[in-house]
Amino acid sequence: MRKNIIAGNWKMNADAQAASTLIKNLNEADLAEKTEVIIAPSYTNLALANELLSGTSIRLSSQNMHQADKGAFTGEVSAEMLKSVGVSYVILGHSERRAIFNEDAQLLKTKVDQALENELKPIFCIGEELKGRQDGKHFDIVESQLSESLFHLSANAMRNIVIAYEPVWAIGTGETASPEQAQDMHVHIRQFIADKYSVEIADGISILYGGSVKPGNAKDIFAKADVDGGLIGGAALKAEDFTAIINSF
Ligand code: PGA
Repeated sequence: MRKNIIAGNWKMNADAQAASTLIKNLNEADLAEKTEVIIAPSYTNLALANELLSGTSIRLSSQNMHQADKGAFTGEVSAEMLKSVGVSYVILGHSERRAIFNEDAQLLKTKVDQALENELKPIFCIGEELKGRQDGKHFDIVESQLSESLFHLSANAMRNIVIAYEPVWAIGTGETASPEQAQDMHVHIRQFIADKYSVEIADGISILYGGSVKPGNAKDIFAKADVDGGLIGGAALKAEDFTAIINSF
């Protein structure tokens, strides 16, 4: 059966000192064991995080990755480099990468392939902007994002994907999708995957919700049958809040 996952996307926050304090606080917290906990600090804090997390069950993710093996790509970080510091997941297709850094479906497809070839599990983000929701196009938008960057994968490769549904209008805005809106979309995503692959594959994929998840709303969102966890931004920066969210299942 699919896993419950809570992943903290720290974005461009926390210097080495703050990262180390946050991780130490998480290590001391009482975390529900049945939930897989992942943190995604900035590149500069990954090696440090790996050391501090050694012997714990918290897993490490990067927030991005370059699609090439190595070479003249100043400022970029490869899958192999990430693996060498204990990273096992990579967030790909976050709406900030799509909107601010112009990452398109084709590029994301190559990043997904590169991650899987290097045994990194993509946490693949999809979600509509406000206009898409207002125009009633949210299901179509999400279908395109899935089919353009993931549906070239074999069924076996697909088993290694985690999906994060993050309506862009709910990211960092304090506005969340209602538990019903999240559930409707997650069911739609799962059905779309089942139609392309199989019910067995679709049932095995963890679909996380992201967008202003806080200790106060996590429980209702996670209570929905097809919401298998969350990708948490702002609230992942406070150990107390992140712990409360993890323990909301
Ligand atoms: P937020 O961010 O929880 O701060 O809305 C979520 C995300 O961007 O993954």
